Amino acid sequence: MRTIAIANQKGGCGKTTTAINLSASLSLKGKRVLLVDCDPQAHATMGLNVDPAGLERNLYNVLSPGERGGLSLQEVLVPIKDHLDLVPSSVILSAVEQELSRREGRENRLLEAVSALRKPYDYLIVDCPPSIGLLCINALRACAEVIIPIEMSLFSLRGVAKLMEIFLLLKDHLDHEVRPRALITMYDFRTRYAQRVLEKVKEKFGANVFESVIRYNIRLRETVDYGLPIGDYDRHSIGCKDYANLAEEVLRAETAGAYPGESDLDNIEDMLFRTQQYMESVALQPRRSCSADVETAPRPPDFPLGK
Ligand SMILES: Nc1ncnc2c1ncn2[C@@H]1O[C@H](COP(=O)(O)OP(=O)(O)OP(=O)(O)O)[C@@H](O)[C@H]1O
Ligand SMILES: [Mg+2]
Repeated sequence: MRTIAIANQKGGCGKTTTAINLSASLSLKGKRVLLVDCDPQAHATMGLNVDPAGLERNLYNVLSPGERGGLSLQEVLVPIKDHLDLVPSSVILSAVEQELSRREGRENRLLEAVSALRKPYDYLIVDCPPSIGLLCINALRACAEVIIPIEMSLFSLRGVAKLMEIFLLLKDHLDHEVRPRALITMYDFRTRYAQRVLEKVKEKFGANVFESVIRYNIRLRETVDYGLPIGDYDRHSIGCKDYANLAEEVLRAETAGAYPGESDLDNIEDMLFRTQQYMESVALQPRRSCSADVETAPRPPDFPLGK
């Protein structure tokens, strides 16, 4: 089973949208996927039309060390569709951070639950909260790979540097190494500025950034109101195509064994530093709004999706 956390402490960069739509796209390709909503905001849960208030059990009952905790993932999961199950969240999950503090093995609760899974899955996808606390550490600890959605704005790399520090801590203290990979989201290719930044980020991150780019697409925003993955809402949208591309790229790494050019964490830190320097150097460039839908905008000849 491949285990992938979707993490970035920066809020609103596309973690949940990626968690839902990558999971759904992988399941459409025949992979058995378990999506774990590890965020007390429960956006992934609601995004799949599951009402957290209407459930008796959720991830809290797995992670909590108290008497209401200790359930298995199977006991709380909700089947969503063929090949896709959800471990839902609810606001009560935020209590886990407090309940687990100072407990021995507090960072291993999710890993233990995942190790005890009896139902076979091909993919475990974990949607992380926008903060680096015990919930996020539990998610990273349970996963071998991390997708870091990076919204194409100047400020989006700030959270990433902190996340990299956490990866190094996990490696030093728990001997747990994760393979991080950046995913560019909400990309508005109409602006020259965004194209330049994208080129540079790709240049600097090298193989540690996905070829697939998630473009800004109003349909992805609309899916939230309908509680559907983009493929079930509008399968002709660019959002659907972009997440299908991403799923294919993730699948290709299965046969390749690892991502091409997979590098160690020190290299990534270095690349990050250089990318950040670049981002700062272009900070004075004017930035046009990304708020419009880009569905009808012409595709520039050098757009890097190329698939
Ligand atoms: N490619 C996209 N195009 C347009 N809107 C998007 C796109 N990706 C995400 N959004 C919208 O941006 C908002 C934030 O996205 P999302 O909830 O996925 O971010 P997040 O990182 O999970 O946020 P949080 O940190 O609060 O958990 C949502 O309204 C979502 O519908
Ligand atoms: Mg989210």
